[in-house]
Amino acid sequence: MVRDTAVLLDERRVFEPKDEILSRAHVKNWEKEIEKGKDLEKYWAEKAEQFEWFQKWDQVLDESNKPFYQWFVGGKINLAYNAVDRWIETEKRNQVAILYINERGEEKKITFYELYVQVNKLANALKNLGVKKGDTVSMYLPMCPELLISILACNKIGAVHSVVYSGLSVGAFVERMNDAKAKVLFTADGTYRRGKIIDLKAIADEAILQCPTIETIVVVNHTGKPIQISELSGREIFYERLVDGEPAYCEPEWMDSEDPLFILYTSGSTGKPKGVLHTTAGYMVGVATTLRDIFDIHENDLWWCTGDIGWITGHSYVIYGPLLLGTTTVVYEGAPDYPDPGVWWKIVEKYGVTKFYTAPTAIRHLMRFGTRYTNLYNLESLRILGTVGEPINPEAWMWYYKNVGKENCPIMDTWWQTETGMHLISPIPAASLKPGSATLPFPGIDADVVDEEGNSVPVGKGGYLVIKKPWPSMFRTLYKDEERFKDVYWNAFPGYIYKAGDMARKDEEGYFWIQGRSDDVLKIAGHRIGSAEVESAFVGHPAVAEAAVIGKSDPIKGEVIKAFIILREGYELKTQLIEDLKKHVRYELGPVAVLGEIVQVDKLPKTRSGKIMRRILRAQERGEDLGDTSTLEE
Ligand code: WTA
Repeated sequence: MVRDTAVLLDERRVFEPKDEILSRAHVKNWEKEIEKGKDLEKYWAEKAEQFEWFQKWDQVLDESNKPFYQWFVGGKINLAYNAVDRWIETEKRNQVAILYINERGEEKKITFYELYVQVNKLANALKNLGVKKGDTVSMYLPMCPELLISILACNKIGAVHSVVYSGLSVGAFVERMNDAKAKVLFTADGTYRRGKIIDLKAIADEAILQCPTIETIVVVNHTGKPIQISELSGREIFYERLVDGEPAYCEPEWMDSEDPLFILYTSGSTGKPKGVLHTTAGYMVGVATTLRDIFDIHENDLWWCTGDIGWITGHSYVIYGPLLLGTTTVVYEGAPDYPDPGVWWKIVEKYGVTKFYTAPTAIRHLMRFGTRYTNLYNLESLRILGTVGEPINPEAWMWYYKNVGKENCPIMDTWWQTETGMHLISPIPAASLKPGSATLPFPGIDADVVDEEGNSVPVGKGGYLVIKKPWPSMFRTLYKDEERFKDVYWNAFPGYIYKAGDMARKDEEGYFWIQGRSDDVLKIAGHRIGSAEVESAFVGHPAVAEAAVIGKSDPIKGEVIKAFIILREGYELKTQLIEDLKKHVRYELGPVAVLGEIVQVDKLPKTRSGKIMRRILRAQERGEDLGDTSTLEE
């Protein structure tokens, strides 16, 4: 979403930290902490000390082969051991680790001990299936306990997980699965969505016909919908059968700090999704540290991140962050407005959620109902709120602050990415807040706004958001695509500075105001979708000769898709065809690709070499100046 800069430049409200929040906070002095972060290696080494290492690292940061940075070199560690095993020897043993709730009001509580047993059993079962250290295992599952368990079981034995978001459909699924060469796939009979059950298994069944590497499909019986065993082919097995009878202990694999932990696909400028690869120790240290200091996690907190585990937010802050801190994590399966728009607040009241983290799109959606639902429930348990995924407009920020946080809860507007693994620009509870600003870089993070040449721009001027020093949970490469990794992120400016792909500006106090993407990536309801992916879905339809896609601003979703298409001869853009096209794109990509408008054109703006200039279409859409058109074909 591109923001109205005039409105933002006018935003002068400042909210100082309240004593009650400050007195409990792990970090009481923001400036001092930022100062501490300047000694990068010392800062992160201290944070790494809180974990249990099988073998300590020899070197905190190895910069000898830029941009392939390495962290905690020589260390041996196991993430599942740190997130689960180590708690069973403490008073947390019988504390709830996972609080699963769904839209039907059903709940499951899994203690750290129970989680430990389940992770170990599944880890052993995976070994029996022939999964070895370094093999890839994929998950196409709803937000359910088995998703967390399967992820943790993978890293117990050193397998690499690659989760496919359950809202993606056949085309997107096949592409990701085949790139990662997954050996085992976890899926489920279905997922609950607004009173219906979406048949995930049916989508998976269709997709895996095109996925030759998958040897075993593990089916979670999640909704209890009957699946006939006779329907299952030789390579399928029910989850329960798989773990049944397995021993409740599995020796954790001693992982090298830099061993791969997971691949998560995300969108970039071209059609091919990027396999973002994260490794073990640095990711662990970065994610746990940011969660603890930004959301000020303590004993007795009840943490709820509404993000889906199919995206990075869920990886880092539904599973890993909270469990690494020994905190109960709420896993919610359902929409924010079903059975009614009070469902989230009802959960906050019922369980006493203390820290709540969601996306601006959800806030904007719920804001439409005013105070009707937020006043129906007691939200006094809340201490700190957060947002992620896209810029939050000051109006939504204020609504969240007043009506959900009752003016007592600071809002952590966290800027980060799949690639960064952890929050990079964000306030902490001791910060002075400005609605709409992600404030300052986290301690240890060196962020800036630069021009085309890589020079810092003056205060107030827009430019490219960059990160100038490495951080522990940074992605290490794009899976099987080192060239693209270097080109897209590290070669744009001299001196190995990381190009984030966002536009931003800084104000007089150094606060960052993120303005939206600088590339052809769309943010639809916080979900990251590449224009080129949508275009290739369009041209996969027999009626479409060419397509160009841009984001069209939407008051709730931030952006929706506006598609410009050239039809093949003999086709007309009538209601039936529009419906067909919508269905087709949904089949290829899934419900995340929300089509706002399809227009038929005779020509698309292109460069002389034939590349579509989406920039021109965007400028036209917004009624802006077309900018430099010298490369335009005609
Ligand atoms: C956007 C999501 C403004 C940004 C964690 C970034 C944000 C992209 C914010 C990454 C924020 C994320 N303010 N914009 N607080 N957080 N973004 O990989 O455009 O799905 O580049 O990771 O989301 O999206 P991704």
